[in-house]
Amino acid sequence: MSRVTVRVPAKVNLSLGVGRARADGYHSLATVYQAVDLHDEVRATDRDDDEVTVTVHAEIDLPEGTAVPVGDDNIAVRAAKLLREHLGRPDLGADLSIRKVIPVAGGMAGGSADAAAALVGCNELWGGGLSRLELEPLAAELGSDVPFLLHGGNAIGGGRGETISPILARGSYHWVFATAGEGLSTAAVYAEFDRLNPHGVLEPEVPDALLNALRAGDAHALGRSLSNDLTDAALSLRPELADTLKVGLEAGALGALISGSGPTTLFLAASEQHGLDLAMALASTGTAADVIQSRGPVTGARLI
Ligand code: C5P
Repeated sequence: MSRVTVRVPAKVNLSLGVGRARADGYHSLATVYQAVDLHDEVRATDRDDDEVTVTVHAEIDLPEGTAVPVGDDNIAVRAAKLLREHLGRPDLGADLSIRKVIPVAGGMAGGSADAAAALVGCNELWGGGLSRLELEPLAAELGSDVPFLLHGGNAIGGGRGETISPILARGSYHWVFATAGEGLSTAAVYAEFDRLNPHGVLEPEVPDALLNALRAGDAHALGRSLSNDLTDAALSLRPELADTLKVGLEAGALGALISGSGPTTLFLAASEQHGLDLAMALASTGTAADVIQSRGPVTGARLI
């Protein structure tokens, strides 16, 4: 019996520029991703038959009304099946076991992370021999954020988020995440974005100030240049997130932002100690379900 384990990070969008809805229903994006030190683990064990199964061990509280699917609709299962189809080996099987730490339905790409990990893990388990570059098109088919999670670090995402260009960046950043008790559907937030922008929007761009801040490794400048075009849509669906953002800013965060489509909020701290102070301020107000300290950037999906 062979077994491999892959560790995969969550992502944040330091800027999320959202353009028009395309003919395929996705929105064009200009985003800056950063992979952060909050990891799921996916273990893949081979099988004698062609079944692909999944079990999920959640180390976090799942949002109300949310369950990670444990059938063929689990995105890690879909990833494994897509890979074996690509390899022309429908006979291959695997048992996947996911240790879940990344918030579910939280705007941190937890599902996409598991898909990236399943691709890397099953490619190794089955001797697929595909390079990371060769896994990319499969990753893109599974979800807009999946290619970035193969790479990690800092990168610009174009297209619908799946086209990745690494960027020159310095520094390690201290983050505090505040999770919400109830998840948000990414599709619902994009639909709300369309409803709030009935006359369309301009093509998005990555802000120069953000790229300069990353190049300089300047946390204060980075804090000032964080942006998210989905903010109004997420706040329209979850007005109470405005309170959480306010608490973090009043407690001295260098910047505060909704993570992706939300509802997780993120706060940039100047140091580990500052992060702890922010975390305590956020936890004491009771606006968040959980408060997590983290760092970024970190590397993408890796065998351990
Ligand atoms: O790519 P992914 O499956 O993660 O996207 C989930 C949903 O979010 C899509 O079905 C779509 O409704 C919305 N989305 C979008 N534009 C993007 C990415 C996601 O409209 N660039």
